[in-house]
Amino acid sequence: MNNLFKRFSVILALVVATVFAPVSMAHDDATDHTHAATEGQIWAQLKAGATGETTSHGQFHNQPINTYDLRVLELRSDLLAPALMAALFGMIIIFVVFIKINGISKLHGGFSGKMVYRWSKFDVSIHWLGAIPCLLLILTGLTLLAGRFFFQPYIGEGFWAALVYGAKQVHDIMAIPFMIGWALMTLLWAKNQLPKMYDLKWMMVVGGYINFGPFKGKHPDAGFANAGEKLWFWAFAVFGLVISASGMLLLFPNLFEPSRTLSLIALILHSVSAIIITAFSIVHIFMATVMSEGGMECMVSGYCDENWASQHHNLWFDEIKENGTLKYKD
Ligand code: HEM
Repeated sequence: MNNLFKRFSVILALVVATVFAPVSMAHDDATDHTHAATEGQIWAQLKAGATGETTSHGQFHNQPINTYDLRVLELRSDLLAPALMAALFGMIIIFVVFIKINGISKLHGGFSGKMVYRWSKFDVSIHWLGAIPCLLLILTGLTLLAGRFFFQPYIGEGFWAALVYGAKQVHDIMAIPFMIGWALMTLLWAKNQLPKMYDLKWMMVVGGYINFGPFKGKHPDAGFANAGEKLWFWAFAVFGLVISASGMLLLFPNLFEPSRTLSLIALILHSVSAIIITAFSIVHIFMATVMSEGGMECMVSGYCDENWASQHHNLWFDEIKENGTLKYKD
């Protein structure tokens, strides 16, 4: 990892130094124009605070790297990048193994065929407005943060350059629909996601999803959202805010003119939030598509099977039956 990081640092230094050449690259030895001799010098000069010109208007607009604290580079290569890989691939492996051992949550009474109204068409649309960009942001973010350590050594230079360039463009563009989806979901759905006392019991028996030991056959109470969904919702609400705010700061430095320290803090907060959202997303996707038989239909048609409603969201189902808002699909 350290070697890879050093190699990247040298490449980064070379690229930046080309831009900063007029101020930083002047040296006496006319024969020493080959990169081998200059790599170390370039990096040394950058670290010593070489200055030049950039399009930035920020406080340190003339300096390519932060010379007073390089710890964030190590943090990214040694901790944040591996953690994001683990949040994505590690969680997928854990879930595949878990499902192999535990099995999925079947509908005890099978599908009734009677479909109950759960989400409006607008709800389904805003879910996918946030979810599809979120998945693209995860994949492109992974390429930008962890790609040079985990992918670059195994692929050709040209392919890597195209990949990282494409990832950056997609990442910047997808930020906008993600934030709109995030804002709408957070504002419109929060009222159904407030914690209740019965959520504790749901947590204690892991929602009844464990098919062995003392947990087997448990059916904890749940309202419109169960405790697991509430946890995901609030993690998404909080870290969606952090990732959006830090992302805007990084995307529009000329607008917000953050100090260099604030930019570094934003970069760290952005990565940490991405790690948390990625891990939760994988759990959420597995729960919706594989683990909970019949669950996926909710975000396709907005309706769920009556047996799914009474098995997984009994309190909500009882409530809509009682208050007369239960609506079946024609
Ligand atoms: C292939 C990917 C995904 C699938 C199949 C999926 C599916 C679903 C389903 C079926 C529900 C409704 C659950 C219910 O009615 O009880 C739901 C809810 C939700 N989804 Fe997704 N989703 C996906 C990706 C995402 C992503 C990436 C995000 C983040 C932007 C997200 C955010 C939410 C939120 C906040 C809720 C409401 C809380 C909840 O019910 O869990 N989803 N999703």
